[in-house]
Amino acid sequence: MSARVIDGKSFAAGLRARVATEVAAFKAATGVTPGLAVVLVGEDPASQVYVRNKGRETLAAGMASFEHRMAATTSQEQLLALIASLNTDDTVHGILVQLPLPKHIDEAAVLAAIDPAKDVDGFHVVNAGLLATGGQGLVPCTPLGCLMLLEDTLGDLSGLEAVVIGRSNIVGKPMAQLLLGKSCTVTIAHSRTRDLPSVVRRADIVVAAVGRPEMVKADWIKPGATVIDVGINRVPADEPGKTRLVGDVAYGEVSRVAGAVTPVPGGVGPMTIACLLLNTLTAAQARHG
Ligand code: GUN
Repeated sequence: MSARVIDGKSFAAGLRARVATEVAAFKAATGVTPGLAVVLVGEDPASQVYVRNKGRETLAAGMASFEHRMAATTSQEQLLALIASLNTDDTVHGILVQLPLPKHIDEAAVLAAIDPAKDVDGFHVVNAGLLATGGQGLVPCTPLGCLMLLEDTLGDLSGLEAVVIGRSNIVGKPMAQLLLGKSCTVTIAHSRTRDLPSVVRRADIVVAAVGRPEMVKADWIKPGATVIDVGINRVPADEPGKTRLVGDVAYGEVSRVAGAVTPVPGGVGPMTIACLLLNTLTAAQARHG
């Protein structure tokens, strides 16, 4: 039997439409346009694509988009000065500093400088702490999107065994907290986990966020399990000189065992920007509610 394909692209389109409707209602009620500021330091090509897409989708949702592009040689002080001005700018409800930052800039110091109420990435320690303690903070976009897809696929997640592969602050750890909040039994696996296949084999829910192309194999998967693939890896294609995108999951073989699986592309990826728009609206509502 073949797994159900979880269509993140279509779910994200629906979510963006719901956000746009709510943005219009919010503007009518308050006279305020929610605004998102995106800061890009340097010329990383992948980051440039992400930032352009974020700007376009922000405008399409009826919100204001402010792009700040800074040279790779920008000093930490200059970046912190920009963040300080965005923190006090009433037209800005969300601030996102695109990662990775150039090596000479202390990422933790930059994230700590963002007003937690405007931290639409949910990376500030205050928001990470609120997530860990069950409070109402801003939640990182990618794990939030994964959770929405899981609840849409499975309904109530309570009591299910979840294995998150990867322990990053951006995906693995917040994903585990969200699943714990939904009463899953949660395991966080990582590069030092012993016998990873047998750990993954007990999972009803697998979230793969390791950045290793097609690492998760079919014989790791419990038949019928739901598999969420956060990986976006560029690998050589069959044609010389061409590349293709693959996830952290060996999609072809896993889809013959799993109950449901997200494709790459078209699975988790589109959910991240949709959740960013949602977080920007949430931040604006919290300020003007
Ligand atoms: N770089 C890769 N993913 C992300 C993300 O979710 N937020 C930010 N700010 N940078 C990223």
